[in-house]
Amino acid sequence: MRRRMLLMVACLLVVGSAGYAISAETTDTREAVQRTEQEKAFILDQMRLLLSSIVEVEDGLGSSDMDQVAREAAARGRKANANLARPQGLAAKESDAWKAMFASVRTGFDTIADKAKAGAPPLEINKMLADTMRNCVACHQTYRIEVQAH
Ligand code: HEC
Repeated sequence: MRRRMLLMVACLLVVGSAGYAISAETTDTREAVQRTEQEKAFILDQMRLLLSSIVEVEDGLGSSDMDQVAREAAARGRKANANLARPQGLAAKESDAWKAMFASVRTGFDTIADKAKAGAPPLEINKMLADTMRNCVACHQTYRIEVQAH
């Protein structure tokens, strides 16, 4: 009897959380941007590079390795990516807001690299990283990628 009760409670919990997951999904109000499968793969690859460099920048800041900070930040900056091979036609699909947020990320990393090379205090650089990352947050709150047919 007691076991049956427990089972019922467990079932209710499962059903309840499934319902919650469905309702949470319907609240996605981000704008869908159309990209091809290949463009999406390119964008997400760039995103993962951003995230892994942030880990290394933080690691460098936390262990006073300013060479590492400069190197990792520079790798995600505008200068290092000026000649990055991008899928053809991708730039034309990007809104001005998208371009502006991404440009701020690239510029932010270049500035962080310059500051690290100039020996700026880690706390100051950490704050600059936070300011740079506000662009990550803003863009993620605005857009999601939808794969278009071709
Ligand atoms: C100009 C817009 C924009 C900027 C700026 C941006 N992102 Fe993204 N990012 C996206 C979009 C769009 C997605 C896909 C979201 C979706 O489709 O649900 C994404 C996805 C990701 C993912 C998931 C990757 C995967 O493999 O699925 C990571 C990690 C990520 N971003 C990290 C970052 C970091 C870190 C920054 C800042 C340093 C950043 N992004 C800045 C637009 C942006």
